[in-house]
Amino acid sequence: MTHAHITTWVIALILFFVAISLHKKDNKRPYKIVTMILRLFYVLIIVTGVMLLPGITGSYGVKALLGVLVIGFLEMVLGLTKKGKSAGFAWILLIIGLIAVIYLGLSLPMGIYIGS
Ligand code: HEM
Repeated sequence: MTHAHITTWVIALILFFVAISLHKKDNKRPYKIVTMILRLFYVLIIVTGVMLLPGITGSYGVKALLGVLVIGFLEMVLGLTKKGKSAGFAWILLIIGLIAVIYLGLSLPMGIYIGS
């Protein structure tokens, strides 16, 4: 399940960057399709994440909350970019959130170990 979880958010990140580049090229139809698939992957991230959750106390609760927030930040960047508004602040939130959630995910006891 850990691998399924990692696969879903890696694919979501790739789709997110594809969507950003399609928007820059003004490819409206492909953009719509990619963002629709991206939203499906949000659901898969949450489903696989919840299946891994032993409970929502302590670090696991923080991990789950951060994960959901990161999904929110992805949507913020896409939404602001689509409206032609400045998304600088949303990008900063996204990068900080992403680093935090990956760090916390890896430091929690299940799954792949990096470091000591
Ligand atoms: C974009 C969003 C997310 C990212 C980038 C992310 C990233 C990660 C990473 C890197 C791991 C560590 C995998 C490993 O140890 O091999 C992990 C594990 C986990 N994630 Fe997520 N995650 C996200 C969203 C979520 C959500 C929404 C939830 C819950 C609703 C969640 C719950 C969990 C749980 C319970 C684990 C297991 C932690 C452990 O190793 O003990 N994640 N995630």
